[in-house]
Amino acid sequence: MHSVQKISENIYWVGGNDRRLERFENMFPIPNGVCYNSFLILDEKTALMDTVDTAISRLFIENITHVLNGRDLDYLVINHMEPDHCANIEELVKRYPNIKIVGNKKTFQFIGQFYDFDYSMNMLEVKDGETLCLGRHNLKFMTVPMVHWPEVMFTYEETEKILFSADAFGTFGALAGNIFCDETDYDHYYLEEARRYYSNIVGKYGQQVQSALKKLKDYEVNMICSLHGPIWRENLPYILNKYDKWSKYEPEKNGVVLVYASMYGNIENTINVIANKLAQKGVKDMRVYDISKTHPSYIISDIWKYSHVIFGSVTYNMGLYYGMESLLNEIKALNMQNRKVGLVGSGTWSPQSVKIMQEIIGSMKNMDIVGEPFEVTSSMKQEQEEVVDKFVEDFFKSIN
Ligand SMILES: Cc1cc2nc3c(=O)[nH]c(=O)nc-3n(C[C@H](O)[C@H](O)[C@H](O)COP(=O)(O)O)c2cc1C
Ligand SMILES: [Fe+2]
Ligand SMILES: [Fe+2]
Repeated sequence: MHSVQKISENIYWVGGNDRRLERFENMFPIPNGVCYNSFLILDEKTALMDTVDTAISRLFIENITHVLNGRDLDYLVINHMEPDHCANIEELVKRYPNIKIVGNKKTFQFIGQFYDFDYSMNMLEVKDGETLCLGRHNLKFMTVPMVHWPEVMFTYEETEKILFSADAFGTFGALAGNIFCDETDYDHYYLEEARRYYSNIVGKYGQQVQSALKKLKDYEVNMICSLHGPIWRENLPYILNKYDKWSKYEPEKNGVVLVYASMYGNIENTINVIANKLAQKGVKDMRVYDISKTHPSYIISDIWKYSHVIFGSVTYNMGLYYGMESLLNEIKALNMQNRKVGLVGSGTWSPQSVKIMQEIIGSMKNMDIVGEPFEVTSSMKQEQEEVVDKFVEDFFKSIN
């Protein structure tokens, strides 16, 4: 049985959900599942905006067969050539041999790299700024390279002013029947996941997201249809402003994320002592994470949100505990910048962790180390309270 919804008079949502998948990209836990959106426009010509993941191919084919109701499919626009959206291209070419696949040069390069079927008769290559008339609807293509991948395009439908935005403005989390943001408790249910999706998946490309946002300034947009998550048709500045902040690596909130890597609980204790002292000074809404317990994507997402972060790590074989090492290298790879950072380390015979963390943080852009980084020898003793108090005092001052 098909499962479609109208998003406007002649445009249908024909996507679906996957609540079984454990990890998106085999990496990111998705406790609330994920959705793959696809949209079908009926006009003098019919046009499908992207396909979906293999997980929901069967439903997807039922959906478009139902909406087309015997009509041919004239165009398949590929805004993003990542497999979670492209699993059904070959199937569509088989079912609709007259179909024209609309993409740019890079799109076609990637189709050939991923798949083995002959699509040479079905190609319609477009360039940035070109348009395609469907009748009453007019599609305008904007290349937005690296708003996840190099081939990514936005497609802007000029009549209804709908932006099909590829992965941009999307989120983890399946749709619960409600396909519009304004029908959901977005702040409560989706926002954290939208930030985790953005920061981990697109976060590295802040500059390219800034360029895409600048391009969008020339267009009036009534609706944003991302490939993941609910559709924006009200209060669009809300998500556009979030993207502006996230892509400028500006914190949304004053606050502290504390992350520790601890085997026996001693540096964990130090981090708890610091958090308690900061709380007593009035710092609110802190987050404390055990690197071995929480998937780094959640920690990265909170580092994106808050202004301050404190890392505490043991020394491990003259290096960093590897969960911490990979977290620091990952935030560096994602181009994280503009945060205030506190550092605490420990060791039993030759502590190295503070030095190594300083090197990594020091090699990043605009990451200010605040408070004097200090070391704990095996476990923190009462005699060190003065050192901790001084650290907390200096750190606290930088928050206000
Ligand atoms: C496999 C392993 C390797 C370690 N390597 C070092 C090291 O190279 N230098 C050092 O000073 N301590 C090293 N340690 C000791 C821990 O860093 C130290 O005991 C730490 O203070 C424990 O803190 P925790 O209670 O927070 O886990 C190592 C411990 C383990 C288990
Ligand atoms: Fe993607
Ligand atoms: Fe995607």
